Amino acid sequence: MMRMNNLILIEVVLLFVTVDLLLVCATAAGGVVKCAEQERQALLHFKAAMVDDYGILSSWKGRDCCHWNGVRCSNLTSHVISLDLHGDVIQNEYTYVERFLRGKIPSSLVELQHLRYLNLSFNYFGDYHIPEFFGNLTSLRYLDLSFCHFGGRIPTQFGSLPHLTYLNLNRNELEGSIPYQLGNLSKLQYLDLWGNALQRKMLYKE
Ligand SMILES: *[C@@H]1O[C@H](CO)[C@@H](O)[C@H](O)[C@H]1NC(C)=O
Ligand SMILES: *[C@@H]1O[C@H](CO)[C@@H](O)[C@H](O)[C@H]1NC(C)=O
Ligand SMILES: *[C@@H]1O[C@H](CO)[C@@H](O)[C@H](O)[C@H]1NC(C)=O
Ligand SMILES: *[C@@H]1O[C@H](CO)[C@@H](O)[C@H](O)[C@H]1NC(C)=O
Repeated sequence: MMRMNNLILIEVVLLFVTVDLLLVCATAAGGVVKCAEQERQALLHFKAAMVDDYGILSSWKGRDCCHWNGVRCSNLTSHVISLDLHGDVIQNEYTYVERFLRGKIPSSLVELQHLRYLNLSFNYFGDYHIPEFFGNLTSLRYLDLSFCHFGGRIPTQFGSLPHLTYLNLNRNELEGSIPYQLGNLSKLQYLDLWGNALQRKMLYKE
């Protein structure tokens, strides 16, 4: 009788393991990952706020935002973990191609609390400052805002991104001093502030 019970137990355990494995496989095949409705709404807000002359966000429709271009979700949690929406400027002897988004980045992006990677490089945000609420995206590891034409100052709020390892602000139109709060970024391995008006401003000041 004891043996029998143990066998049943083992079978039940095996059944669960099999079901789990099937779920993991289905997820890996791209079938099961479904985006969270709140995050989908946040992305749709972003899309609505952007002027998208080149159709960069044209695949952003339908229920499953995890399959939209530039969006990646966690295979385990389904949360949006990566947004790669970089623009392009390709210039050589024969061709000149550019594609970019422009507009005011809406604070709805704060809903993406699991975002680890955000790449908005080579888009045009020339009329705006870097949003302070980027400092609320506390899961961020990589933040690439290079070649975005952002004006104004570096938000002091960047100091509260505890996991940030990569920050690229190369070639914007930033001014003022470098906030001391950046010294708080203990995980930071890569910092590029080149091509702004930061240093010149500081030299003139003293
Ligand atoms: C999820 O799984 C798919 C298919 O195996 C893979 O291409 C994708 O990179 C995975 N996504 C993440 C965030 O690991
Ligand atoms: C962001 O996108 C640009 C353009 O494709 C690429 O060169 C850059 O390496 C990306 N940044 C990161 C941190 O992956
Ligand atoms: C970001 O966090 C700060 C401090 O916690 C809060 O005051 C602010 O309202 C947040 N911003 C957004 C857009 O959620
Ligand atoms: C420094 O980082 C910690 C968390 O790592 C945060 O609680 C604190 O507010 C940050 N300080 C500043 C000045 O940004």
